[in-house]
Amino acid sequence: MNGKFITIEGIDGSGKSTMSHYIVNKIKERGYDVILTREPGGTDISEMIRKIILDNEIDPKTEVLLFAASRREHLVKKIKPALEKGIFVVCDRFLDSSIAYQSYGRGLDEKKIININDYALNGIKPDVTLYFDVDLERGLERTQKREKNNKLDSQSLEFYGKIKNAYDNLYKKEPNRIKRVDANLEINEVEKELDNLLESLFRKWKI
Ligand code: TYD
Repeated sequence: MNGKFITIEGIDGSGKSTMSHYIVNKIKERGYDVILTREPGGTDISEMIRKIILDNEIDPKTEVLLFAASRREHLVKKIKPALEKGIFVVCDRFLDSSIAYQSYGRGLDEKKIININDYALNGIKPDVTLYFDVDLERGLERTQKREKNNKLDSQSLEFYGKIKNAYDNLYKKEPNRIKRVDANLEINEVEKELDNLLESLFRKWKI
C-alpha cells in the first residue's frame, strides 16, 4: 500500500505547526512510518528557495513560480518517494496555501496558479487536508506572541481576512478532501477533535 499524503493548512497562528507533531505521533502509534515536512521547504533546494521568498520583497508572479518550483522539488525528491515506500507524509502547507496567499491574498488569477501547479505536480493531490480554522483576532494574537517577524507575518488584518475567506471557500468547494478543525479551542480540545477525525480517516483507509 502507498502511504497517505496529509496536508495541513490554515492562517498564520492557527496552531497547525504545533498540532502537526500530534498528528505524526498518532500515525506512528497506529504502526505506520511517517515523515513531517513543510512548505515552502522540505529539501535542500526547496529550503534555499524558502529563504529567497521569505527574506525578500518579490514580484507576486515571481513568488508564485518560486513556490511552485519549490513544491516540485519537494514532491519529486521527498514526498513521492516516501509515499511509494508506504510512508505517510504530513506536510505543513501545500498547494492550497498558494491559492489562499497568492490568489485571494495578492489578487493573482486562481486558475493560472492552479495551471502552473498542475504542471509542477503531475496530478498528485493530498489524500486529505486538515484545515485549522481560527478566528482572525485570535490567530494574529498568537503570531504576535511568537515575536518572529518575517515578511508574510507582518501583513494587515485585512490580508489575513482574505486568506481566511480563501480557506473557508476551498473547504466549501471540496468537503471530501478538506476536513475542518476548530482551532479556537484549547489545545486538549483540539487534540480530541483530531483524535476523532483521524479515527474516521483510519477507518476509511482500512488501516
Ligand atoms: P512560515 O513561517 O512557515 O509560516 P507558517 O508557520 O504560518 O506556515 O512561512 C510560510 C509563509 O509562506 C506563510 O505566511 C504562508 C506563505 N506561503 C505562501 O504564501 N504560499 C505558499 O504556497 C506557501 C506554501 C506558503
